[in-house]
Amino acid sequence: MNSAGTAPNDPPPAPLVERLQAADQSHVLRFWDQLDTEARGRLITQLEAIDFDQLAGLIAGQDDKPDFAALASRATPPPAVRSDGTGAAWNPADARRAGAEAIAAGRVGVVIVAGGQGTRLGFDHPKGMYPIGPLSDRTLFEYFADLLIATQRRYGVSIPLYLMTSPLTHDETLAYWAEHDYLGLGSENVRIFCQGTMPAVDAKTGKLLLASPDSLSLSPDGHGGTVRALSVSGCLDDATSRGIDLLCYIQVDNPLVALCDPDLIGHHLVSGSEMTTQVVRKRYPEEKVGNVVMVDGALRIIEYSDLPEEIAAQRNEAGELRLWAGNIAVHVMNVPFLRRAAASADALPFHRANKATPFIDDQGKLISPDTPNSIKFERFIFDLLPDAENAFVVEAVADRAFAPVKNADGAPYDTPQRAREAIVHLHRDWLRDAGVAVAEGIKVEINPRFAIDVAELKQRLAGTTSIERDHYFAPLQ
Ligand code: UD1
Repeated sequence: MNSAGTAPNDPPPAPLVERLQAADQSHVLRFWDQLDTEARGRLITQLEAIDFDQLAGLIAGQDDKPDFAALASRATPPPAVRSDGTGAAWNPADARRAGAEAIAAGRVGVVIVAGGQGTRLGFDHPKGMYPIGPLSDRTLFEYFADLLIATQRRYGVSIPLYLMTSPLTHDETLAYWAEHDYLGLGSENVRIFCQGTMPAVDAKTGKLLLASPDSLSLSPDGHGGTVRALSVSGCLDDATSRGIDLLCYIQVDNPLVALCDPDLIGHHLVSGSEMTTQVVRKRYPEEKVGNVVMVDGALRIIEYSDLPEEIAAQRNEAGELRLWAGNIAVHVMNVPFLRRAAASADALPFHRANKATPFIDDQGKLISPDTPNSIKFERFIFDLLPDAENAFVVEAVADRAFAPVKNADGAPYDTPQRAREAIVHLHRDWLRDAGVAVAEGIKVEINPRFAIDVAELKQRLAGTTSIERDHYFAPLQ
């Protein structure tokens, strides 16, 4: 008997056969007779995880896209604190104090989503392992770990990291963190958990695609999968048991991110929001970032691809873009809010994407199409925003907070080269603000464990007046 309870000559389990017939998906058992017991068990486990009623609805398009053009025509700028401090009904300094107190009280944990394939970057490993430090060659994972260590020291607390992977990135990510001794964070403070998957279906027939005789074609269920994965992995319980009620969420691709930003957390607290999102001012109408807007009294994000050009181009009387707030995927969320969302199966809708997906045909031959042949289903974390009480927006300055690594060098934007330049530029500014002159063309990089901000840098470099050659300010032991 195998784990699925079948002996070599047994037919597939009758209840499963019935479910597949009812769903018109029986073809997935086509190769059953050729499979050994282990392979059968694997296939059965995948099939049993599928909610066929839900899948039928998705295939039939019941989840079909909202009419984004109509939504966009009613969209207005979101309620927000701007980077100059305007827009809040409270004093920004009070908010900052509240944020710092929450961090110091141990109420804050961090979620990093790192389940994406990073196809556009052309890097064959989890994106977090990409070396991004302009002088140090530190990886993206090291960037976040160093910042977390520096933040923990500053506030005298421990801040757990919940790192989400997908089946595509899980094993290598686990191995990386273990081999690098959890990058100094302590294994007890790093929980690496895997998100769920969704099956891909043939775009024309709605039939499940097989990646091999014993496996469906499965893909990560989108960063919206974080909600369920945080819950089923026990991370929400872990957070609660540590007294954490606020989670700072970031993507693995942005080395400039201000993790555990006291301003962001403070505005979140003072506004009484359940989910607060940090944005940057869009530089031009067609910039490839989601647009954070208000529609019918609720905060939501309309992706750049869904925002009609003429609406994206609208300007206000001052000549600024009317829909100005660009999504950088940095959110603060209340743990009870996430629990509520995790308990509701429909808290997040599915989005459909047409993708080219390799599959095996009826004869078992592998076909690798060049053009989209399948529909994949993904959930987005930001679809939580309309359901959050008092959802709120905080502006950060783009040059200081956003330099995502998405495309390979040579692409016009979001490349490693551009991210490295942004890091150097920011750290040159820090040195200048700390009263240290930096010669033209000189590269600098500051590890947050050397100095986490300008004030600390000033202290560390007392007596230094200029930097004449490239310099990496490494951690102080
Ligand atoms: C995303 C946002 C966009 C925003 C931009 C900022 C969406 C749909 N769009 O775009 O509004 O302006 O970031 O950088 O999110 N991930 C998982 N599991 C998955 C899918 C993705 O963990 O199943 C993670 C990736 O590892 C990555 C992040 O989510 O860290 C973003 O995913 P990606 O597909 O690269 O989003 P973008 O299209 O770049």
